[in-house]
Amino acid sequence: MSFHTHTHTDYVQDVSPGSGALPPRAWYASSDAKSLSLNGNWRFRLSSTADAEDDSFAAEGYDAGDWAQIAVPGHWVLQGHGSPIYTNHLYPFPVDPPRVPTENPTGDHLRVFDLPAHWPDLAEGGAVLRFDGVESCARVWLNGTDLGEFKGSRLPHEFAVGHLLKAAGNVLAVRVHQWSAGSYLEDQDQWWLPGIFRDVTLLHRPAGAALDFFVHASYDHLAGTGTLRVDSDVDGRVTVSELGIDIATGESVTMPVEAWSAETPRLYEGTLATGGERVPLRIGFRTVDLSDGLIKVNGRPVLFKGVNRHEWHPERGRALDLETMREDVLLMKRHNVNAVRTSHYPPHPAFLDLCDAYGLWVIDECDLETHGFTEQGWRDNPVDDDRWTPALLDRASRMVERDKNHPSVVIWSLGNEAGTGRGLTAMAEWIKDRDSSRPVHYEGDPTCRDTDIYSRMYADHAEVERIGRGLDGGTLKRRQLPFILCEFAHAMGNGPGGLADYQRLFESYDRLQGGFVWEWIDHGIAYPELGFAYGGDFGEELHDGNFVCDGLLFPDRRPSPGFVEYKKVIEPVGITGAFGEATVRITNKQDFADLSALAFSWSYEVDGEPVESGTLAVPGLAPGESADVKLPAPPAGAPAGEAHWTVRAALAADTPWAPKDHVVAWGQIPVSERRVPTVTATARPAVGDNGVITLGPGTFDARTGALTAVGDVPVSGLRLDVWRATTDNDDGAPWQPDLRYGLLWRGLGLHRMRHRLDAVESGEHALTVRMRVAPAARELGLSTVYRWTSDGNRLRLTVSTVPEGDWTVPLPRLGIRFGLSTADGVRWYGGGPGEAYPDTRMASAVGRWQSTVDDLQTPYVRPQENGARIDVRWAELGGLRIEGDPAFSLTARRWTTEQLDAATHLTDLTSGDTVWVNLDHGQHGIGSQSCGPGPLPQYHLRAEPAEFSFVFSTAPAPETS
Ligand code: GAL
Repeated sequence: MSFHTHTHTDYVQDVSPGSGALPPRAWYASSDAKSLSLNGNWRFRLSSTADAEDDSFAAEGYDAGDWAQIAVPGHWVLQGHGSPIYTNHLYPFPVDPPRVPTENPTGDHLRVFDLPAHWPDLAEGGAVLRFDGVESCARVWLNGTDLGEFKGSRLPHEFAVGHLLKAAGNVLAVRVHQWSAGSYLEDQDQWWLPGIFRDVTLLHRPAGAALDFFVHASYDHLAGTGTLRVDSDVDGRVTVSELGIDIATGESVTMPVEAWSAETPRLYEGTLATGGERVPLRIGFRTVDLSDGLIKVNGRPVLFKGVNRHEWHPERGRALDLETMREDVLLMKRHNVNAVRTSHYPPHPAFLDLCDAYGLWVIDECDLETHGFTEQGWRDNPVDDDRWTPALLDRASRMVERDKNHPSVVIWSLGNEAGTGRGLTAMAEWIKDRDSSRPVHYEGDPTCRDTDIYSRMYADHAEVERIGRGLDGGTLKRRQLPFILCEFAHAMGNGPGGLADYQRLFESYDRLQGGFVWEWIDHGIAYPELGFAYGGDFGEELHDGNFVCDGLLFPDRRPSPGFVEYKKVIEPVGITGAFGEATVRITNKQDFADLSALAFSWSYEVDGEPVESGTLAVPGLAPGESADVKLPAPPAGAPAGEAHWTVRAALAADTPWAPKDHVVAWGQIPVSERRVPTVTATARPAVGDNGVITLGPGTFDARTGALTAVGDVPVSGLRLDVWRATTDNDDGAPWQPDLRYGLLWRGLGLHRMRHRLDAVESGEHALTVRMRVAPAARELGLSTVYRWTSDGNRLRLTVSTVPEGDWTVPLPRLGIRFGLSTADGVRWYGGGPGEAYPDTRMASAVGRWQSTVDDLQTPYVRPQENGARIDVRWAELGGLRIEGDPAFSLTARRWTTEQLDAATHLTDLTSGDTVWVNLDHGQHGIGSQSCGPGPLPQYHLRAEPAEFSFVFSTAPAPETS
């Protein structure tokens, strides 16, 4: 005989979204109705199962004096109770939906509060208790009364509590379970972080106040008029004083207005007055439509220059404060980003207010991902199982109702990586029925059955081009849809490479309406002993390592070189010109704004030194227009040398997101060629009887031919180098074995090359050292000749390499490395100021740059090759001056490549007593194959015969300040 006992935690494993909560409604930050934030310190008790403790703590009079304290909003695992877990798509528990493990960390939260003195008489309407986000399932009691329970972590839930409130001593008890049936719907690639991680607020609801309202503010671009109608469940009045609008709810009015766009985020302040409440409205007039197979706003096709934003803070996880949200928006705007996909859940609602105000296009994505079901061929996928449909519809409606009044939200997304199924169709149908004014997005269904946009992730350049040309096939419906890459350019570690090549495609084919880089920020967790922690650092039994650190920002929000590159690639103004030309081509790449916000300037530089500068008059260009603008005559009396024009477009005045003079776009136009260094080989190698050969300023070991000093600067270990500490992109993804260059390189032994000395030949005007550089166990190698010559003052090294054997893979790098006993300041003329590789070099400007060895390092959370400065004509460091023929790529660091390669966290890198310098003739491209395509063929460093030279001399060490 078997029997089943119902426990009071059955709701945890129940497919239903919950019970007791109020229907969803529009979110707004503040009305004139009173509210009380319940954020702050709460009492907290953690237990290991869902029902380890009874619910007596919810009763009035319970003494929680010996409980811990916890900050709300927050995640308990980031506050010393338990640990975070990181998995990409694997469920960290057995897959048996909707059941969850017995081990189910459960946090009881308790807060006692008094109503503030100003709180209205409770007879005057009611009150609601609002939770903006709780992961993953909560049950709520107020003053001992069970209000209900809910799931849907990143969605708001409200309970009616007016009848329960008292003036003082209210007891709010919340039981939060880490795992619930809802967890099956929240398998996003991120840390699993339980807790009450968004605001908890008590809101007075005056009698007669609207439950919900819907602002419809459209724009007719032909007439230049906006039409406003506000629907509300109770009658009220809508006023917009700036427009002289005073209408009843449900009534519409049309009048000339300025439209809202991400480039021109014009908002009108208004008010919705209903019985007892005045709700502030921020109205943006804009119309999204699909016509001619394109997503248009206000009649114009839009090009999305987007990012995927997860909410992240290195200490607080997904509990973001307003200032952090604002910082995200400001960073986006300052880096020319114009769009955000809220991957993969609706963000804190205040973030959308910021997007409205500062101007960003938003794809608002529902809190839904069931990616882990891919492990079982999508069997039992909740989105294809009718039992789950109410939960899916609950999620869709909580998103749409909360966010529908934001002009910035232009697209609804059903969720991410949830396979296909009837539940998605039901969501799409519900959304279109409720809000026909916005297109629906979902990437995971190649038929596009439920969507208005064909969307993909990580498609390579060639496929994107085919899609742009309409040659991609697919269902009839799909072929008629506009295209976006909802994810591309996986920004894990060093990279992403190939951004400019994507942007060129987006700008070439109308159907390609842009993309969203994956992703905004590294989800590293601040951890002093490690720098930042990632998957596995908390002893998780299943984890996906540093795949969680794949953002354009480091965890502390410092922009990575990839973000600087993205800023350059998506500039709103094109500034280009051909070698030696006297004109610069200016293109307004915006979709809405003219150029009036920008001031243009030129500067004329010789060998990187500015000689003269001035302003450049650029005609007003409408979006999409170009003009050839004449440059001034080159300054009379400019010194001879390699000259460039640099033309910049900067903000002409302060804006809400950046001050006047902030540079939004620039371009460089080469005027004259560089003079390559020449060294006439006049000095003769002198073989001393002390085992030393001297040649000009060079001192060599006579037996090995090794350079030991240039002048009085000791040099050690100079030799050919082909190895780099593999990047996350080099290491690649398991599902693309051909692109796992790191493994292929290691398989060949490129990380352990041996250098066999074949000859040291002291000729009349040259010292020649012949070597063969090859790994154990392989027949392939590089026959290498170092040829040293000198004019007495300067020492020239010419390296010639010829690959031998069957090289089927590109080389990681090709150049020389050597050690200096001291070096601190670094000066160079060439590409800068930041890091650049063959396919990440758009943001590198030719100029004179200065840094320190320490500041040349890029702090990728998992250490890897970084910090190369490209196109270096000459560099000075550690008492040496090095000129390149041709220009070279420079790295210098206080540890060896081998140490960098072995490090797993930043704190593994400790300075040695040598500064290791690499001068590279070439590096292999970066690509984004940690999740996407590898470097395009033109960025491969093929093993081919090569010859390159460096000229060494001594120079005073640069200043370090
Ligand atoms: C995508 C997914 C993202 C993230 C990314 C890899 O497939 O949608 O959530 O996992 O890959 O970082």
